[in-house]
Amino acid sequence: MPEETERIPITVRVNGKSHSLAVEPRLLLVELLREELDLTGTHIGCDTTYCGACTVLLNGAAVKSCTVFAVQADQGEVLTVEGLAQDHKLHPIQEAFAQNHGLQCGYCTPGVLMSTYALLARHPNPSDAQIRKAIAGNTCRCTGYQNIIKSIRAAARGIEGS
Ligand code: FES
Ligand code: FES
Repeated sequence: MPEETERIPITVRVNGKSHSLAVEPRLLLVELLREELDLTGTHIGCDTTYCGACTVLLNGAAVKSCTVFAVQADQGEVLTVEGLAQDHKLHPIQEAFAQNHGLQCGYCTPGVLMSTYALLARHPNPSDAQIRKAIAGNTCRCTGYQNIIKSIRAAARGIEGS
């Protein structure tokens, strides 16, 4: 009979809501979000830490949640794509992507939105070089990068103007 793995108690705040649960040490943050908390907006697009579809904010920093263990988020604050819209109103970043055709199939979009959120928190008026650097870890298979960059510029203007 396989030995049962010890579970470790953690408390994580996700999108403003606190969750206390016991997890296996090997559980990834993306698995915690998708499988334990049912937050399937965070996508898995590879198994090589490459695509960035799994990007979320952990304590304010954009991280690839497939490369972070859930236990590393203990006592932390996580923001996922589900936490962007408030009161059924899209976040200005989401609005800008919708209006500027910043997505095609949408698979990469949750990760791109979260990288954009982290960028604009640091640089409300980013240069194109800063935008390109911020999304360098996000792969878009539909290769809609021009419109993604256009959307991020529009999001910066939208947030500034709001
Ligand atoms: S799922 Fe591809 S980088 Fe995380
Ligand atoms: S919109 Fe399809 S992968 Fe980016």
